[in-house]
Amino acid sequence: MVFKSEIKEVIKEAVKELYQIDIDPVVEHPAQEEHGDYSTNVAMVLADRLERKPLDIAEEIKDAVSKSLRTDVASPGFINFRLSEEALLGEVNRINELKNSYGSSDTGKGKTVVVDYSAPNIAKRFGVGHLRSTIIGQALYNLYSFIGYKTIGDNHLGDWGTQFGVLLAEIKDSKAKVEDLTVDDLEKMYVDFHQKAEKDPQLMDKARSWFKKLEEGDKEVRRIWKAVVDVSLKEFDWVYDLLGVDIDYAYGESFYGGKMPAVISEVRERGLSKKSAGAEIVEFEDMPPAILVKSDGATTYFTRDLATIKFRIDEWDPQIIIYEVGADQTLHFRQVFETANKLSWSKDREFVHVAHGLIRFKEGKMSTRRGQTIKLEEVLNESVSRARKLVEDSKTGKGLSSKQKDEIAKAVGVGAVKYFDLSHHPKSDIVFSWESMFLLEGNSAPYLQYTYARALSVLDKKETDKPQATSRKPLASEAEAPLLRWLYRFPEILEEAAASYSPNLLCSYLFELAQRFNSFYADVPIIKAEGVELQRLRLAITAATAQVLKNGLALLGIEAPERL
Ligand code: ARG
Repeated sequence: MVFKSEIKEVIKEAVKELYQIDIDPVVEHPAQEEHGDYSTNVAMVLADRLERKPLDIAEEIKDAVSKSLRTDVASPGFINFRLSEEALLGEVNRINELKNSYGSSDTGKGKTVVVDYSAPNIAKRFGVGHLRSTIIGQALYNLYSFIGYKTIGDNHLGDWGTQFGVLLAEIKDSKAKVEDLTVDDLEKMYVDFHQKAEKDPQLMDKARSWFKKLEEGDKEVRRIWKAVVDVSLKEFDWVYDLLGVDIDYAYGESFYGGKMPAVISEVRERGLSKKSAGAEIVEFEDMPPAILVKSDGATTYFTRDLATIKFRIDEWDPQIIIYEVGADQTLHFRQVFETANKLSWSKDREFVHVAHGLIRFKEGKMSTRRGQTIKLEEVLNESVSRARKLVEDSKTGKGLSSKQKDEIAKAVGVGAVKYFDLSHHPKSDIVFSWESMFLLEGNSAPYLQYTYARALSVLDKKETDKPQATSRKPLASEAEAPLLRWLYRFPEILEEAAASYSPNLLCSYLFELAQRFNSFYADVPIIKAEGVELQRLRLAITAATAQVLKNGLALLGIEAPERL
């Protein structure tokens, strides 16, 4: 249950009743839990308007809501709320009843979200930037689905554009058999070409004319292009399989080939474009212009993104389109969104660019141009083998078959990489670190997975009739309180993480939950608790913690093995 919205509602009503003012009160968790579970500064906000002392207003509101909420007032005018034991214990039982669906809601009922994510470029390696997009994009997709949105994932593959001209030029020159090429070969061709083109700028014109042939539908050129796409997709599937990611659609840029003329006309008719040095451009007040049609008639990434929005609107009528794409494309998306806006496509719709930062390896930024990309395959394989070693060395590992160990190693190794990424705010640059990824006592997937397995092992040992949380007083002074005061926040965190496109909020929440559980586990006996009632309560809390960890990890796309 989201207590927060209920508290908000009660305050809102009281303020309206007392002062005839409509206000949307800010309700937060106080930094210090002793102050209560929630707190509002509404009295301070009202003080100016009412020209009265905040403390007096706080007292009045407190009196007005005291029937339904347990409150007290703190200077300079905060009103603090405390959830009752009944409410907290009720929530534990709800978690254990609702199980895998705990935390889901119908917030997004009737609304559709498109998540544009992953989007690697054909003929290049699946890089670390696209890994971020895939991991964060999938987490956002899961979060939005869980809170009731109709969610559509679209992998906007980079399978079109002048760079294919480059490739076609190289393939033609080298007389290579396309089917035999690997993504590495293709990428090398791309790098070689650019080195040659630095000395011989005319090569670029050659590449452009090849792309033009592709856009014009030349059969032979299209065949080569298709073979290149297939080679790449086969290699990308390896990554998707390992990550357990399956994106609903992969229309890709090429899909919009035939859809651009209509969009170009629409832009033209609205008077948004103009001719400039043979090309057609869209100008903006506070940004450089974007090219709609190149001087040789070829379309651009910008044009294709406009066509993509148009298609998505016609096809799915989404209220939100989330682009999980690197921060280096900020200007591009500002141009696209502003143009869509001027075309009146954004009415009742939101376009969001979740601009993720870079992953830096100690060597510095990676670049395909210079051809020094760190291989994703190597990173992921290394992570799984580190995890495998961990399992091998653990006590549980002894009793497992080799196949079981492989499965767990995969869950832990892949989970470690995903969580490392997700635990940072998408916008921040992150420095790759095996140490942080595998912190066994810190904010890492293995730590959460261990905690989950530990909670299950407690439940395993004792087959109780039914763990049940019934009231035991006084609660606040007991070992259970810190967990009870944290568990109920899960649904709230999911809403916040989705609304702010920040899966890292969920990570911090789960980390804190795991820490609280581990202290509880260390401090008090669970199975050997004195008395059946207390034993039941502690088992119920343990089960609820395990359930919330499981649900949270699942939303992050991370598996929770039952044994570790
Ligand atoms: N393929 C592009 C790149 O790697 C990302 C595409 C993102 N999505 C989009 N609708 N533009 O740079």
